[in-house]
Amino acid sequence: MENLKITTNIQVCQYNELVEEDKILIDKAKSMTEKSYVPYSKFHVGAALLLSNGKIVGGSNQENAAFPSGTCAERTTIYYAHSKYPESKFQKLAIAASKDGKFTARPISPCGACRQAILEYETLGGEPVKLLLYGTDCIYIVNSISDLLPLCFSEF
Ligand code: THU
Repeated sequence: MENLKITTNIQVCQYNELVEEDKILIDKAKSMTEKSYVPYSKFHVGAALLLSNGKIVGGSNQENAAFPSGTCAERTTIYYAHSKYPESKFQKLAIAASKDGKFTARPISPCGACRQAILEYETLGGEPVKLLLYGTDCIYIVNSISDLLPLCFSEF
């Protein structure tokens, strides 16, 4: 028997170390938290996606009294983006979250279902979708969504 070790490379940095484009994307994700509809969790999540056509699409989590009917900020954003600009590739996705008026100290990371959904568009575009995960203590930069979904499902 042998062990298969899987490692993930995540860069940890501060806001002022980011390039301008990444700052803009994080700012947009932070501002999108204000558009969330979260009467149940009160946990506001915002996302901002940079597309290959240069557009930035923002989205937020939208909850529902029938809990499974709600959607995370990431899926709100990516499904809207691909409906509106189906010819564009996804390049970078920034995510931020706040509760009780404060952004989270640690970055939040997409849930399993969102990872799978983002991966679908990374595969479709044939280029990595970079993640910028915001926290007030630090920012995580992940170079490809596939880094957060090792041994992902594929039919080949
Ligand atoms: N949520 C997101 O929008 N994105 C994530 O990555 C994790 C969780 C939402 C779902 C729900 O509206 C609230 O956060 C609490 O789980």
